[in-house]
Amino acid sequence: MKIGVFDSGLGGLVITRAFINTLPEYDYVYYGDTKHLPYGEKTSGRILNYTLEAVKFLIAQDCALIIIACNTATSIALRYIQQRFIPSYAPSVKVLGVVIPTVEEALESHTAGVGVIATNATVHSHIYLTELHKIRPELAVCEIAAPQLVPAIEGNDFVEAERLAKEYAARFRQIDSLILGCTHYPLVKEYFRRYLPSNVRVVSQDELMGAKLKDYLCRHAEIETRLEKKGSRRFYVSRLNKHYRQLADMLFPGIDVTECQKETGN
Ligand code: DGL
Repeated sequence: MKIGVFDSGLGGLVITRAFINTLPEYDYVYYGDTKHLPYGEKTSGRILNYTLEAVKFLIAQDCALIIIACNTATSIALRYIQQRFIPSYAPSVKVLGVVIPTVEEALESHTAGVGVIATNATVHSHIYLTELHKIRPELAVCEIAAPQLVPAIEGNDFVEAERLAKEYAARFRQIDSLILGCTHYPLVKEYFRRYLPSNVRVVSQDELMGAKLKDYLCRHAEIETRLEKKGSRRFYVSRLNKHYRQLADMLFPGIDVTECQKETGN
């Protein structure tokens, strides 16, 4: 059995790279739904349908553990998938998201004010606010949606991405941590670090998810012992063209990406 990683596009390759760097021995299957990107601007119903199709695809690829690396899909679909879908469809499969590990990491250091930057759908779900307040009800939380940032990154326009990061950074006041709540934002984390005051800690998922997965596997022998350790990697996307091929190669040098023929939730 393998570890499956799902994202709405190619940004999740950065998180997959973090998993592989920390835990290279396991077998990984990646699925990026490039055909339906961006999820952040879609309705909850469509995000849920696409995420369900992606999870079914990864289950069909023999994944015993699936990580929804997409913050938007985690925000909208994870609870339904964990509580309603998996128990009847594939009870032995475990599906995890990225929000709770990120919240835990953000609260590791002393903080009185947390900023969250994410897609429209993630911000409107208030999942980060809810999870932060479950642990620290008095915390000041400022959530800002950055709908233009993903298109700039997926379009490989890092000049525009830097301009946007500077603009968004200036909108956060009195925070001491900023959560980058989107798989694509680790690619522009240095811009946020450049334009935020130096006392603000930027919490970037590529820097925390490897250790969080390692910790999870140490605590869950019932999953860990089912995982093969042949070091295999397979990467699928729902749409592949020259641009996506170049972007994938930039994010994961030497990658071999396959377009998966399956229709995903149209
Ligand atoms: N991968 C998504 C996330 O982490 C962002 C891209 C999108 O809008 O699909 O929220």
